[in-house]
Amino acid sequence: MKKLLYQFDTDAIPSVFDSVVAYDGGADQVTSLGGITPKNCQSLVEGAIYTRAPKHKKNTALFIGGSDLAAGEELFTTVQNLFFGKFRVSVMLDSNGCNTTAAAGVALITNAVDVKGKTAVVLAGTGPVGQRAAVMLALNGANVRLTSRQLERSEHSCDLMNHEFGVNLEPMVAADDKSIATALDGAQIAFGAGKSGIQLLRAEQWQNHTSLEVLADVGTARILGFEGIDMMDNNTERFGKHIFGGIGIGALKLRLHRACIARLFESNDLVLDANEVYQTATSLLTQ
Ligand SMILES: NC(=O)c1ccc[n+]([C@@H]2O[C@H](COP(=O)([O-])OP(=O)(O)OC[C@H]3O[C@@H](n4cnc5c(N)ncnc54)[C@H](OP(=O)(O)O)[C@@H]3O)[C@@H](O)[C@H]2O)c1
Repeated sequence: MKKLLYQFDTDAIPSVFDSVVAYDGGADQVTSLGGITPKNCQSLVEGAIYTRAPKHKKNTALFIGGSDLAAGEELFTTVQNLFFGKFRVSVMLDSNGCNTTAAAGVALITNAVDVKGKTAVVLAGTGPVGQRAAVMLALNGANVRLTSRQLERSEHSCDLMNHEFGVNLEPMVAADDKSIATALDGAQIAFGAGKSGIQLLRAEQWQNHTSLEVLADVGTARILGFEGIDMMDNNTERFGKHIFGGIGIGALKLRLHRACIARLFESNDLVLDANEVYQTATSLLTQ
């Protein structure tokens, strides 16, 4: 029986990246649909849950993506509310690679150092990747500050994540040298999650920082989030600190994304959000 993946993208044009990885993760056919919302998803979900016999339902799965995490989460909840009894299929949320990228970065960090009780700063953490990285660091026992150029934006992201995951993220501003220094004060871990091509830290802001031990930046553009690191860095030592760059993290992210797609077809009741994706990342690191 063919493994069918329905890619529900909240953006008008569905992600090519997500479609390619879905095939590479083991789907026999991927149907990429754009502009999917809680209002128009019902018949699509019903088509997925009613069509195959119970023992074959695991061969149909749903993937929710798109650039807007809040829209993705709303759709993710609506889809699950349409399931009942045995009428369900496995579903994964990964808006803009939020869960797989954050899980890869945080799993690599926790594999290198014990983050429990340490202070972590997620710089430009208001995007999908940053919000999930902050949650995963907090769930591993770190005290997490999430920054934005505007306090209201960091407060909004922290409120959402604290409410959803029962964590205690601290909103902070990082908009200029002074506020960035305050955000990093006494911190051991810096996680860069800014928009592609945006520099978040100049070299001198981290290289001689007295408390920082680990820096991870997910950027893969010509201009990196942290000046002076290399995107290939994968637990590379620079200035006495553990450094992870966007490709160093991205290699695990891709393996993880494919592994999560494969897991969707193992049963018809798997829900892959931050926790499950993070567990999958840590298991890949021990293989
Ligand atoms: N390595 C990988 O495998 C991989 C995979 C997926 C994504 N990524 C990368 O992950 C990063 C985060 O993705 P995302 O979708 O979460 O990011 P995003 O939503 O595009 O941006 C994250 C935050 O960056 C801040 N920002 C925007 N313009 C800025 C500027 N000029 N100066 C300072 N901050 C600015 C914004 O925060 P405020 O407006 O609140 O300040 C925004 O919320 C991107 O660089 C993306 O390319 C990497």
